[in-house]
Amino acid sequence: MTRREKPADHGRRDRGHRRELERSKRRWDFWSSHWGLIERDTVEIRRETVEQLGVEPGDTVLDLGCGPGVNLAMLREAVGPGGQVIGLDLSRKMLDRARTRLEERGWQNVSLVQADATAPHVQADQLDGVLATTAVSATPDVRSTVRNVSEALCPGGRFALYDIRLVPAGPGTVLNPVVRRFYRLFGNWNDEESVLDELHAAFDRTELVRSFALGTNYIAVAENRREDPGTG
Ligand SMILES: C[S@@+](CC[C@H](N)C(=O)[O-])C[C@H]1O[C@@H](n2cnc3c(N)ncnc32)[C@H](O)[C@@H]1O
Repeated sequence: MTRREKPADHGRRDRGHRRELERSKRRWDFWSSHWGLIERDTVEIRRETVEQLGVEPGDTVLDLGCGPGVNLAMLREAVGPGGQVIGLDLSRKMLDRARTRLEERGWQNVSLVQADATAPHVQADQLDGVLATTAVSATPDVRSTVRNVSEALCPGGRFALYDIRLVPAGPGTVLNPVVRRFYRLFGNWNDEESVLDELHAAFDRTELVRSFALGTNYIAVAENRREDPGTG
């Protein structure tokens, strides 16, 4: 709560947040059975984003907002049989699809968690990498989502994202009212916060790796510095 906020404002904001979470759950439960096409179309972008994680065999990685598990195979490949992959999502139906994928392939080192990314979900310094593909901007509190990731990552661990935003500059910005409406209807997109701004605020280093489709799609990576063994 900010200093000027009254308890009633705080309560209203909490109710708004809960409403948005319920709306997201309904939206993504619905989309869970239609996600195959998008998965095929974006495989190369996902691969490029996973590479930004720079994880090594034996590492533990989280796929935040994992949906039906479209990134799990690539993440398993990156951490090898000795590593661990965790898929986290709010939508039970998305997780049901991810679970089917996991069971069909007999993956032993993948676990799934139903949780809200805007609330703390993993203990501090537990993860070597966090991936999120078109998920952070779908949460109703981007600031908390990003800060939770920053805390859950061990020093030097990376957060790699593929996400969407409005057209950032140029004549294409005239399309933004339509783009905003589309994102909001389709994915309960959060149009009040900037994922990149929150990454800059929560991490020591944030890099916009590349953007495309008039700048509306981008890959970014953020990390906190490793502690210098010579200090403290
Ligand atoms: C656009 S889909 C992306 C799914 C998957 N990452 C992909 O790339 O195909 C967004 C996902 O974020 C999940 N999500 C939305 N809000 C969330 C929250 N607060 N906590 C956890 N997951 C959330 C949705 O349930 C949905 O599966």
